Amino acid sequence: MRAALTSLFALSLLALSPLPRPAAAQDAEAGQRAFNKCRACHQIGEGARNLVGPELNGLIGRHSGSVAGYSYSSANKNSGLVWDEATFAEYIKDPKAKIPGTKMIFAGIRSEKEIADLTAFLKQFGPDGKKL
Ligand code: HEC
Repeated sequence: MRAALTSLFALSLLALSPLPRPAAAQDAEAGQRAFNKCRACHQIGEGARNLVGPELNGLIGRHSGSVAGYSYSSANKNSGLVWDEATFAEYIKDPKAKIPGTKMIFAGIRSEKEIADLTAFLKQFGPDGKKL
C-alpha cells in the first residue's frame, strides 16, 4: 500500500513538471539574432528600404516578387509563390533549389529550429513595418 502511494506521488510529480518544449517552437527573440544573417541585404520594420534584397515587411502572406520599386530576377517574379510559413521554410533552407535562378546569394539555413525562430521574428511585422 505504502509503495503504491509512493509511486502515485511520484507520478503526480511527473505530471506537474513542465513539458519539454516542442523541437520547432517559435522563438522570436532567437529569430531576431538569426536575422543578422539577412541584414547585409534586407531591412525589416518601420521605414525599411530595399537594399541588395527587397524589404521584408508583411512577408508571410505576401506574393513573391511584389515589393514596389525593387528590381527582382525574373526567376523570383515568375515563381508564383505566396510566402506562407511552409513555403518560406523550404525556400530559406536552400533558396536556389526552391527558386532556380534567383539572385539571392545565400547558402541557406539547415536548422529547423532556427527557421522556426526566424519565421516568428519575421511575422511580427505587418506590411507597414509596424509590429502586429
Ligand atoms: C547576399 C544578400 C542576401 C542575403 C544575405 C539574404 N538575401 Fe534574401 N534576397 C536577396 C536578393 C538579392 C533577393 C531578390 C531575389 C530575386 O529577385 O531573385 C532576395 C529575396 C528574398 C526573399 C523573396 C522576397 C520576395 O519579395 O519575393 C525572401 C523571403 C528573402 N530574400 C529572405 C531572406 C532571409 C530571411 C535572409 C536571411 C536568412 C536572406 N533573405 C538573406 C539577397 C539576400
